[in-house]
Amino acid sequence: MGDSTAPAWMRRALQLAASGPWPDPNPRVGCVLVGPDGDVVGEGHHHGAGSPHAEIEALDAAGAAARGATAYVTLEPCSHTGRTGPCTEALIEAGVSRVVFAQSDPNPDAAGGAERLHEAGVRVTGGVLAEEAEALNARWARTVQLGRPLVTWKLATTLDGRSAAADGTSQWITGEAARADVHTLRATRDAVLVGTGTLLADDPRLTVRMPDGGLAPRQPLRVVMGLRPVPPDARLRVEPGEVLHLETRDPRGALDSLWRRGVRDVWLEGGPTLAAAFLRAGLVDDVYAYVAPALLGEGRPAVAGLGIDSIGDVRRLDLDEVVVVGGDVRIHAVPRAAGQDPAGAATTDSAEGGSTTDTANTTDLLAPAAQRR
Ligand SMILES: NC(=O)c1ccc[n+]([C@@H]2O[C@H](COP(=O)([O-])OP(=O)(O)OC[C@H]3O[C@@H](n4cnc5c(N)ncnc54)[C@H](OP(=O)(O)O)[C@@H]3O)[C@@H](O)[C@H]2O)c1
Repeated sequence: MGDSTAPAWMRRALQLAASGPWPDPNPRVGCVLVGPDGDVVGEGHHHGAGSPHAEIEALDAAGAAARGATAYVTLEPCSHTGRTGPCTEALIEAGVSRVVFAQSDPNPDAAGGAERLHEAGVRVTGGVLAEEAEALNARWARTVQLGRPLVTWKLATTLDGRSAAADGTSQWITGEAARADVHTLRATRDAVLVGTGTLLADDPRLTVRMPDGGLAPRQPLRVVMGLRPVPPDARLRVEPGEVLHLETRDPRGALDSLWRRGVRDVWLEGGPTLAAAFLRAGLVDDVYAYVAPALLGEGRPAVAGLGIDSIGDVRRLDLDEVVVVGGDVRIHAVPRAAGQDPAGAATTDSAEGGSTTDTANTTDLLAPAAQRR
């Protein structure tokens, strides 16, 4: 079989991969096994942490027909024993003659699969539609590189940057559409995190609700961080789903605990003290700011002290997307890595020139620089 068919088979494998669960601690992976006569003899995709890998599902489907077949896999087959055995050994034992994969495994514990297959006499080709495969699992690859969950800080502020009124009340700064939008994004994360300050001030439920007000079937882990106790009758305890109290003020330690529980994506909902602690520690990867055209004057700032005294030390973020959500604006921005924040550098272009037609509840004002969600 010539190489010219490889992209088409890989595209099918990518389709299978996309049907895998997300979010999940593991990447989404698809596999197609094609026999020597060009027929598909088995297909598979990963169904989530702890379940068989895509290659194993495809091999099981193929049975004896896997002998002499070519495996098209979206991720380099793993060569380590995690919760399941190494896929490389299963492919070798089944007599697969060639493996074509898209993305190399960024996980140092699982990498080396291509080499192992090659040593066993299997022909190996990597990098076919690698960009597509990487895009499918971009957030997963980043967590693997960082060795900690990604943190998305969500805040709701007035036009004058207030996150709560002087008396501590903040429900609600933004309108219904923005709050529904928050639920949609929250649903894509593994855990929702607040400090004890927000817990005690707002008594939030931190659940994901559907547009009809009902609970979404999958609920992220609800996490409270801080030394004060969580009251037994706190609303987040009453709602169905798991609640975790991390009795610490150490952001990195909290993320390490969450990582060990399989959490890869944290939705940080504040408040200003906790957000500042994560920002100071360089542990915020994405920011969703919902800005309401409203003023409070006095009140709590969006974020507590960051140790910045002068404009020369301003912390700039790269603007990714600006969207009108109902009567509010959602800004998605990405903090710059250390060393990428030259003093006095100009910000990314404003929304000028972007479409300003508000035809629906949610309107793009700026073409996304990259789809980071
Ligand atoms: N508009 C918004 O988007 C938004 C979002 C959330 C909250 N809010 C508002 O924010 C206000 C609450 O603010 P807040 O700053 O008190 O809430 P917070 O940041 O959620 O909680 C702060 C508390 O968390 C604990 N904590 C955990 N890690 C810490 C660390 N590294 N450094 C310092 N403290 C740490 C401390 O309590 P312990 O003594 O228990 O350790 C601290 O007092 C409320 O008025 C709420 O309505 C607004």
